[in-house]
Amino acid sequence: MTGRIVVLISGSGSNMEALADACLDGRVPGAIVAVVADRECIGLKLAEQRELDHLLVRPKNYESRDAWNEVLRDEVASREPDLVVSAGFMRILAPIFVDAFEGKLINLHPSLLPSFKGAHAVRDALEFGVKVTGSTVHFVDNDVDHGPIIMQKPTPVRDDDTEETLHERIKALEHRLLPEVCTLLLEGRVELVDRRVRIKPRER
Ligand code: GRF
Repeated sequence: MTGRIVVLISGSGSNMEALADACLDGRVPGAIVAVVADRECIGLKLAEQRELDHLLVRPKNYESRDAWNEVLRDEVASREPDLVVSAGFMRILAPIFVDAFEGKLINLHPSLLPSFKGAHAVRDALEFGVKVTGSTVHFVDNDVDHGPIIMQKPTPVRDDDTEETLHERIKALEHRLLPEVCTLLLEGRVELVDRRVRIKPRER
């Protein structure tokens, strides 16, 4: 089985690359069929270098947030994805998009949710003084950084950490976490009961 994965990005795209590598070496039973960005970014260039289908859908070219989300939804839907992965996508998706991909749309967030939601999670965790932080992959719903949690990985915060060093360590975790979660989803092993996710064992 080869799952069809669309990745949404806004930045450096290191998670997109980690996922692309995991697809190529067979750790993930899927392939990235498109990389979609909301701005010019390094990740988009990397997608081009990898000869992945890639496109830019800029919000400012549309008259409203909903109009932009509609175009984004149609572009993504046209790739017939099994999985839509928001990996460093710095926009809040509107219900018009989210509702179209229920159960297939996941987000990667650099904290142990529900702590430190929002765009500055790494900085906020550091400033708050937590001793452990990490990363979360969760289903996207219509509240920000709120949907059911699929998997989390922790990392200790060191006394000499800066936002940059801590984020780098979190990203190193994410590069393993995201492919792992994509595999579980594509294998149909993620079960949702209310808002609790259970991972089913692999069938023999
Ligand atoms: C990741 O840390 C992710 O959790 C957050 O943004 C970062 C994206 O990094 N939402 P990259 O663009 O994949 O390098």
